[in-house]
Amino acid sequence: MVDTEQIRRSALEHLWMNDRDWVQMAEEGGPLVIVEGNGIRVTDSDGREWIDANGGYLSVNAGYGRTEIAEAMRDQMSKLIYFPQGSTTEPLVNLAAKIAEITPGDLERSWPVTGGSEANETAIKIARAYHKRRGEGGRYKIISRRGSYHGALGAVLWAGGGGMREDYEPEYPGMLLAPQPDPYRCERGGSTPSECAVRCAQAIEELILFHGPQTVAAVLAEPVSASSAAAVPGDEYWPLVRQICDRYGVLLIADEVINGFGRTGKMFASEHWDLVPDIMTMAKGLTSSYLPVANAIVTTRVADAFAGEDSVFKQSLTFGGHPVTAAAALKNIEILETEDMVGNSTRVGAHFLEQLESLQTDHPSIGDVRGIGLLLGIEFVQDRETKKPFSPDSGFGTRLDEALKEQGLILRSAGGRTISMGPPLCMTEGDTDEVTARLDRAIGIAEKGL
Ligand SMILES: Cc1ncc(COP(=O)(O)O)c(C=O)c1O
Repeated sequence: MVDTEQIRRSALEHLWMNDRDWVQMAEEGGPLVIVEGNGIRVTDSDGREWIDANGGYLSVNAGYGRTEIAEAMRDQMSKLIYFPQGSTTEPLVNLAAKIAEITPGDLERSWPVTGGSEANETAIKIARAYHKRRGEGGRYKIISRRGSYHGALGAVLWAGGGGMREDYEPEYPGMLLAPQPDPYRCERGGSTPSECAVRCAQAIEELILFHGPQTVAAVLAEPVSASSAAAVPGDEYWPLVRQICDRYGVLLIADEVINGFGRTGKMFASEHWDLVPDIMTMAKGLTSSYLPVANAIVTTRVADAFAGEDSVFKQSLTFGGHPVTAAAALKNIEILETEDMVGNSTRVGAHFLEQLESLQTDHPSIGDVRGIGLLLGIEFVQDRETKKPFSPDSGFGTRLDEALKEQGLILRSAGGRTISMGPPLCMTEGDTDEVTARLDRAIGIAEKGL
């Protein structure tokens, strides 16, 4: 048995947790300590069961408790735990080939790393080095979209918007921001998803022209923005952005760190729009979080710029390409494929979306419900006409977070603005009905206090 009190006390003294304030945590009696997981459910150290409607950090795609992945890791570990300098291993080569097989178009060559931030850093470095090798060393600027998140390190900390940056100035040079094609709040005033998509794509072109194409290296974007609570762009967006990038020689980096491995109902979200990016990054669902591993894969055209002794991509990371993580990733992808979890994401996601939409009837605080596959979001507003968000003084966010906890849902409401959901892809329709019923009660409690 876990001594919950002792673990909590020790955590309060010694542990720095993602985005958490240990003073507030102490007032709550310490962090939640999870000891077991199965499917979409986890159990804490007091024996209480929770539904992890966010699947870790939208990352436990195959679900908790898949002992086959643990077995694959153990087998590889007992055979070979690492590799001597200058060599490689069978599981890593097999993984690179498998990723080339399941990604769209001629994305063929992989650079393995350990996390999503590192994958996006690598992609940016590849883009800049690619242009340099082609005699266009002035191309260093990176365009991303406001409201996106691409990681916490180096240049990518400055991609997208977000509140995690103010302590770390000066800003990384050359990071440009374009509007998010969010049909609910179109920055460019588009009144339909299509109009918003076209205007936001045009905004990227304007930005390239304003700065000069000869200075722009790449556009970095998620096909569906998870940090904008699953805002799905109108269908015109991606074909237009692809054309614009091609017109000005700008590389397109698709961040599939959350979107990938079935999250949106396709193996990769780019497939919804027949998009073949020049570079694609992936992480989380690559091993369903059983081990930390990530990857940047590039097309043959991009890879070719690095062929030859003088052109080698200058980067070396000790734990990129670890054979045990590769074995975990291969088994995880096998599970996603053989159990059709990608198809399940489409089917169950569609049912879940309908269920969530039905909550709008009884809950005036719900402004928008959206998403694709099992990447879903709810946006809350004070007033559906003005779309004004709740202020912190209203207490809506605090009450909602408390009520979500009472209902046994591991979900947070971003201060009462949005709830994003990315549950394990093994979720059933019955599970979605249960989550919807609990959300219904939690939102009701939060609204009562208004
Ligand atoms: C879209 C996206 N890209 C990149 C990252 C960074 O990944 P990591 O936390 O593994 O560094 C995240 C993390 O949540 C993400 O959501």
